[in-house]
Amino acid sequence: MRLHVVDHPLVAHKLTTLRDQRTDSATFRRLADELVTLLAYEATRDVRTEAVDIQTPVARTTGVKLARPRPLVVPILRAGLGMLDGMVRLLPTAEVGFLGMIRNEETLEASTYASRMPEDLSGRQVYVLDPMLATGGTLVAAIRELIKRGADDVTAVVLLASPEGVAVVERELAGTPVTVVTAAVDDHLNEQGYIVPGLGDAGDRLYGSA
Ligand code: URA
Repeated sequence: MRLHVVDHPLVAHKLTTLRDQRTDSATFRRLADELVTLLAYEATRDVRTEAVDIQTPVARTTGVKLARPRPLVVPILRAGLGMLDGMVRLLPTAEVGFLGMIRNEETLEASTYASRMPEDLSGRQVYVLDPMLATGGTLVAAIRELIKRGADDVTAVVLLASPEGVAVVERELAGTPVTVVTAAVDDHLNEQGYIVPGLGDAGDRLYGSA
């Protein structure tokens, strides 16, 4: 697993405001959207392109366009939806799939309750969106689902990660070509499963009425 923590003053600035409990939902949504776009810029550094010939008003030249098959962007419901617009702003031609993951509170295993995406993901670059990499269970289960469908190039874009979650993804997906792009790896995960210092419940802060 490759971990990429995006070190940029604009990322740090937006993340600080997201963390602040005084930030209301409307501002939180807007800043999360902007932050995702900054993370998306880094997450797509290896997006595949192909050479094309074009004619400018002045001369013929060569350039690049995104290669086919189109990248697939997969937000994990529900909080990952709050990251979709920020991601597809940079990848407007991407196809969008959806994954709903639920955790069994007895076994603590995450499983898929809804999925809407192509059956065959071989040769596709896939970008998974989930704001918080906390225990890692959901992300590991989601990425396993993608790999089962043939994905061999998966990048997870998360706003924040815990060291425990990163370690779980590293251990459980050892040997799979997975990159995690995040704005920060925080101090630890508390007993309630919250990232500390974190930003609280991302879903509530995105969609709550505060
Ligand atoms: N999910 C959240 O929304 N916040 C956390 O801190 C951990 C998991």
